[in-house]
Amino acid sequence: MISTWSFPNRIVFGCGAIEQLPSIAGLLEARRPLVVTDPGVARCGLLARITGLLGNSAYAVFDRVEGNPTEASVYPGVDVYQSGRCDSVIALGGGSALDAAKAIRLKITHDLPLEEYDDLKNGGDRITADLPPMIAIATTSGTGSEVGRSTVITLKATGRKTVIFSPHLIPSVAIADPELTFDLPAHLTAATGMDAMTHNLEAYLSIGFHPMCDAIGIKGVEIVARNLPVAVRDGRTVEARTNMMAAAIMGAVAFQKGLGTVHSLAHPLSTVAGMHHGLTNAILLPHVMRFNLPVSRDRLADVAVALGVDTHGMTADHAALAAIDAIEKLNDEIGLPKRLRDAGVREEMIPTMVPLAMADGCRLCNPRTTSSEDMEMLYRGAF
Ligand SMILES: [Fe+2]
Repeated sequence: MISTWSFPNRIVFGCGAIEQLPSIAGLLEARRPLVVTDPGVARCGLLARITGLLGNSAYAVFDRVEGNPTEASVYPGVDVYQSGRCDSVIALGGGSALDAAKAIRLKITHDLPLEEYDDLKNGGDRITADLPPMIAIATTSGTGSEVGRSTVITLKATGRKTVIFSPHLIPSVAIADPELTFDLPAHLTAATGMDAMTHNLEAYLSIGFHPMCDAIGIKGVEIVARNLPVAVRDGRTVEARTNMMAAAIMGAVAFQKGLGTVHSLAHPLSTVAGMHHGLTNAILLPHVMRFNLPVSRDRLADVAVALGVDTHGMTADHAALAAIDAIEKLNDEIGLPKRLRDAGVREEMIPTMVPLAMADGCRLCNPRTTSSEDMEMLYRGAF
């Protein structure tokens, strides 16, 4: 099989990188950017910091992106872009703001409704290169959307989290400044960090031949395991925040190889139960690792080593089980709940979520084929 390997955009990385925003905007000839963010980022002062850096230059702001964005986070943003006669997009936030901004940017030059770009119907083939310039500024270390080729928007027409995927969606430049994550609360640091863990780990286990992504994914697992507990405990630790920001980027690069059943189960939990995406992954990950064990023994044994387990003298089976234990311990250490029911999910939601999980394309890269009975069993196991 022939596949396309692409590695990301220009990434300006490091504490203080945000100060380069004006010069990066200048290089991209972004003279009237639309700044896209969410109300939380606007409230905490980060939006003011960005608009302060833009100084006297003209810009417009759309700060109404929802968590788990829908069309309501996209089309009104397009209106603000057009009425402000903007020429570029600056996205500021976590995965929701970055994904909404990517969809706004797409809609500036692409007339079809968003569902026509759905990856499940190869909608990416309809996406051309003529998107306005975009600068992505991450304020969490999780999604990696700042370097990724996809956006995930919940659409009425599909009734699910819809993945739109095209190399043209990669932001022109990503600014990764760990200082912007210093004040992220511990519970969000934990949940977003486990999203990064899941991207790296699922990518490493996913089917397909991609040794470059494998190498990045397994190293990403190691970096998250070593640094996430520190970042949760003391959010102002420069080294841990810096490493977590790198690991989030690595996860998004690695998952161009593919994700897996954790993400297919996770997406309906956000649309149906409103759960935070990272938290869904954290709870589901050990369950799906156990499900995958019969076909992924050796890879899970590698994961155990990356998680810091001393696997000396262990069989591959034992090491794989130790990897699952290590993820459960990590979740515990960073204070995340163990069960879906502790995160607001009700048992009667499961039958609604199973077909949505089956309709989600991520499962197609999972190392073990996942039937709808398996999906139900996994939801019930994690419930
Ligand atoms: Fe994710």
